[in-house]
This record gives sequence, C-alpha cells and structure tokens, in this order.
Amino acid sequence: DKKDGTRVFDLRMQQGGKEFTPGRTTPTWGFNGDYLGPTLRARRGEKVAVRVRNGLDEASTVHWHGMHLPARMDGGPHQMIGPGRERTPRWSVDQPAATLWYHPHPHGKTERHVQRGLAGMFLVDDDRSERLALPKTYGVDDLPVIVQDVRFDGAAFDHGHKMMRSAGFLGDRTMVNGTLDPYQVVRDERVRLRLLNASTARTYAFGFSNGRRFALVGTDGGLLERPAAMERIQLSPGERAEVVVRMVPGERAVLRSHPQDNYGSGWQTRFNGGDDSFDVLQFRAAKRLRPSPAVPAALGEPELPEAGAAVRSRHFELGEGGINGRAMAMDRVDETVTRGTTETWTVRNNHGMPHNFHVHDVQFRVVEVDGRTPPPELRGRKDTVFVPSGTTLKMVLRFDGGPEFADPGVPFMYHCHLLYHEDGGMMGQFVVV
Ligand code: C2O
Ligand code: CU
Ligand code: CU
Repeated sequence: DKKDGTRVFDLRMQQGGKEFTPGRTTPTWGFNGDYLGPTLRARRGEKVAVRVRNGLDEASTVHWHGMHLPARMDGGPHQMIGPGRERTPRWSVDQPAATLWYHPHPHGKTERHVQRGLAGMFLVDDDRSERLALPKTYGVDDLPVIVQDVRFDGAAFDHGHKMMRSAGFLGDRTMVNGTLDPYQVVRDERVRLRLLNASTARTYAFGFSNGRRFALVGTDGGLLERPAAMERIQLSPGERAEVVVRMVPGERAVLRSHPQDNYGSGWQTRFNGGDDSFDVLQFRAAKRLRPSPAVPAALGEPELPEAGAAVRSRHFELGEGGINGRAMAMDRVDETVTRGTTETWTVRNNHGMPHNFHVHDVQFRVVEVDGRTPPPELRGRKDTVFVPSGTTLKMVLRFDGGPEFADPGVPFMYHCHLLYHEDGGMMGQFVVV
C-alpha cells in the first residue's frame, strides 16, 4: 500500500490459536494472523510507515530490530501501545539491503510476548542487491528461516524455565516459520536461506548433516564484501545470516544445529543447550533442478565504520546485576553519544554464562575478539553478537543520521538479547544528541 510515495504497512497484534499438531489448538499471539507476522519489505531510499494496532488485552510495542531510525520511531520500551490503541512510526529507509526483523519490546515482558508468537522479518533491498546474481525469488529460492525452540504442555505452550538453565527458556523442539518438523521442497540448484534466530535463549550452530559447505553472503545488517565458504554458522538470539547452499538433484539434505563448546564451563554448556544437536529443517530436492548462477565473488559494500575515526571509547561489563553492575532503569540514561561521531565499545562477559550484545539504531563492526581478528561471520555489519563466557569483544559504531536523530529525550537500548536476561535488567539506555 502506497500513499504520497510512502510505503504503508499494517500490523495488528492479536490473540489466536494455531494447530501445531492436528487437532490440538495452542493459544498464540501473532501479527495479522495466529502466529508470527508477515514479511515486510522496502527499498533503500523509500519512506515507510507502519500502522501498528494492539488487539491484545495488554500493552506492548513493536521494535524494528536492525533498522537505522530515529529513537522515537524505534518501538522500544518507551513507546508502549495500550490495548485497543495504535501508533504509526514512520521513517526513511537509509541502509544497505539486509534481513532485519521486528518484535515486541515491553520492558520486563519481551520474552513472553515473543514466545507467544510476535515476530516477523523486515527485508531491505537496494539497487545493488537487486542486480546481484543471488537467489532472490521469495519463497522459492530465497527463503525466510525463522528458528524458534518450543515446548508443549498438552496443547498449550510451556514457557516454564528449568532449574540450572541460566540462559533462560530452552525448548525441546524447534520450529521453522512456526512449523514443527518442517521440510522445504527445492527446485533450484542454489537456495538462499535468510536465517533468523528468533528463539529467546537458545544459540544454534547451523550446518548441514552431510557436512556440505555453504557460502555465507550476509550478516545482521547486510551483504558481506565477498562470500565466505563455511561449514557452520553460530547464531545467538536475534542474530541473522544469509547463506547460499547448493543442492544435489533428488537429495534430502538436513540443516542441523551442532554441539558448541563456547558456553563457559562444561556444566554451563550442558544446561544451556550447548551440547545439543538436532535437525532444524529438511530440504527435499527435486529430481531435476533449475540451474542457478554461481555466487558472485563481489557482493556488497558493507559501509562499516572505521576504527581510526573513533573519538571515544566505552566499556560494558556483562555480569552480576546487569551491565556495568546496574540493572536497567527506565528513567536513567546510561550513555550519551554525539550524532555524527564514531566510538569504540568494548564488551566483556566474565560471568560464567552465555550472553550476547545488541545495540539499537546502528550496525557495528567487530574489530577484535579476545584481541584477535574476528572470524568471517563477524566481519560484516552486525547489530547483535554472541559474547561467550570469558570473552571480550571490541566493536566500532558510528552514530550517523540527520538532525531528526538527535533526541536527548528518547533513548535507544543496548542489551543482552537472551530475552530472560534482557527482561531481568541486562539492558541500558543511550541517547544520541
Ligand atoms: Cu531485537 Cu532491543 O531488540
Ligand atoms: Cu533492536
Ligand atoms: Cu545474557
């Protein structure tokens, strides 16, 4: 829907019920439907407006994760929408093509709102991404893969936390796009998967059961400069990756999650799901596949901030009591940054349990992981990054944007995206002035 050149979307948060298994209806929440929400899509340079209506019987918000936009449009915990109310954030899309997403952000309740089904993808396209020879027929060879773990208690979701799971909720089953035991029929030689970890606490190490390598082409905030051949990609909650995988005619290939060894102690790894391995999505390749062009050697222009431009540095300690020893307070601004400047942020997890770190408004560049050059999956545009126990990350962030981005009265958030931790106060607020 387009009015005066503005692309207009409608989202309605509503209660519903979905038959995840035939004959058993699970009470759910969704956008414009029973579970999850439509994929929104806009081009760089376009003006967008999203009319968000709250058809729930409690207040919530919708946050545009990964989007560069003024704080008052960000849908953070200061922009609550009461039951029966609506709000229409509007902004100009000014960032490279990327796989972004949206989800509620009510302070202290984000885990519950997301788990009930409120999440969706927001894709950004640009001239370059439209010209590139990457698979791009949505739903055919360009597939959204929203991964969530769930547990059922009879027909209902069981959102209870188990003892010793310091990361938060872990389900015993996984779903893709709200479907249990999912499979995808493939008729093209190459498919592009837009992987989104929309789980509240579980970190995955995605790879194919047959050890097949894939090309990593994009990270949270856009395409890499050039593809990286990989066998595994680890995604903590909130992170995305775009990968292109080649299929063999007639095969059944399975995307799995593999054991991980960077959760902290063996005990932490075990109780937080790091030892788990399970199937995520099965691909059923047709006997004859349409040929796809090879993955281009040059992909995007990452538009990453330069470390040399940093004018100030800050330190964030993820640990007891929240970030830098303090729990999130709605009326306290923790950091003030200057519009148009570049900064270096160091994030350290010395806490014995897994955390990650997400910053609103920006896409940052990870420059160091424990003093070393980051691996390929952390070299592109990132807005969320896994910070394993005992790890220190250094990143560079540029807070750019027009005058509408300067707003001392409305903060952006930075936080751990393990939603139980976020809700528990591992979050802080910054303003751009
Ligand atoms: Cu995806 Cu502050 O959130
Ligand atoms: Cu966000
Ligand atoms: Cu955390």
